[in-house]
Amino acid sequence: MLCDVALMALGLYGAHLISRGFSTAEEPSYLEKAVARAARNLSIPRNARLEANPWSPTPEVLKEARESFLDRCATCHGPDGSGQTRVGRSLYPKVPDLRLPRTQNLTDGEIRCIIRNGVRLTGMPGWANPHDEQGDDSWKQVLFVRSLRQLTSVEREQQAAAANSAHYVGSPSCRKCHGPGSEHVQHPTRGNILNAARVEYVQASDTCIQCHSPGRPLTNPIEGRYYDWPVGYQVGSNLRDFWQLEEHTLGEMTFTHYPDGTAHKNRMQGNDFVQSVMYRRGVTGFSCHDAHGTEHNAQLRKPADQLCLDCYGPLSMNGPRTGTL
Ligand code: HEC
Ligand code: HEC
Ligand code: HEC
Repeated sequence: MLCDVALMALGLYGAHLISRGFSTAEEPSYLEKAVARAARNLSIPRNARLEANPWSPTPEVLKEARESFLDRCATCHGPDGSGQTRVGRSLYPKVPDLRLPRTQNLTDGEIRCIIRNGVRLTGMPGWANPHDEQGDDSWKQVLFVRSLRQLTSVEREQQAAAANSAHYVGSPSCRKCHGPGSEHVQHPTRGNILNAARVEYVQASDTCIQCHSPGRPLTNPIEGRYYDWPVGYQVGSNLRDFWQLEEHTLGEMTFTHYPDGTAHKNRMQGNDFVQSVMYRRGVTGFSCHDAHGTEHNAQLRKPADQLCLDCYGPLSMNGPRTGTL
């Protein structure tokens, strides 16, 4: 009896699938995803699931794993594991964001098993051919997948330091980027303070461009006085409603610009950045710099030779070839 009901339910579900069509552009239903995932995880033998990773995430191992990931995985998973690639978005089921708890909560053994065996009926290929396994590549890939989420110890310290000093929020030094924050001082929660990392990318970049671009307020003079900062602008609003960048005509060498439109003066990073493909694709100043300070040159999040390679590695699909971005 129970079986009959289950069979009928399956039949109805099958009919529903057929009526929805089989396009891979669609998002699989919740039930489809849950069933497929449970089946996949159950198929991983217990001892494989509990196996410990023989490697530790030293900088050398991570570097090697990263190169292999860019070479073999990034076409689908993206250089940062987000899955936001042309291939990743059009596979069925879609490529998951490897940074999220869904993946990160799997054991090391489970992740390795998935990498070695692939996932049947999905775009995820298996990589267990003997040549790929030279040097324990799949275990190293597991460490790389983990590193997509985990902060380095330095980053962790910095985050803790910023959070611990959060009682200063509301002081002028934080206000420029986090908003007025008087309510936040009364009730410190994430909900009542602006975090540029969580707003739309134009407003996010405006947080930095408010100071990193010479220009003039839209109405100048204001009450008889001339200002050279965006009077009235507050983070979270659109800078262009308050601020006009210095004008420039292509081909002309001026006090502020080179003929090709790039900066001829200091503190013009904003002018250059808004002309770049990075800006149009949602990269922000703080994707690369940590405005709270780091030990690296120019407050870079990582040393320069590592940072740029996150997007421009030798085998990365990103890079100056705009068409493939
Ligand atoms: C052709 C595209 C493609 C390539 C190349 C690829 N993957 Fe995947 N990957 C997928 C898809 C699709 C899934 C989702 C499978 C599913 O829905 O269960 C996936 C799933 C995964 C998962 C499981 C995530 C989870 O939460 O279920 C891991 C881990 C993973 N891939 C790692 C890798 C690694 C490491 C490489 C390179 C060695 C790689 N993948 C190469 C498409 C790809
Ligand atoms: C020059 C701009 C700037 C200034 C000044 C600034 N911050 Fe930030 N802050 C950011 C940006 C951008 C982010 C989001 C990206 C990141 O984490 O780096 C952020 C994130 C944070 C976070 C993490 C919030 C979260 O939800 O994870 C904390 C905590 C923080 N800032 C505290 C402070 C404090 C306290 C001050 C003043 C002492 C301050 N910040 C001054 C730009 C700034
Ligand atoms: C309140 C104004 C203000 C804001 C807002 C601001 N900056 Fe700055 N920033 C400055 C000034 C002033 C300097 C020093 C410029 C100089 O030395 O020519 C500077 C310098 C820097 C430097 C160079 C540091 C070095 O060590 O050479 C970086 C990188 C930087 N800012 C990134 C950012 C980022 C990213 C944001 C947005 C999250 C941001 N800034 C927002 C005013 C600001």
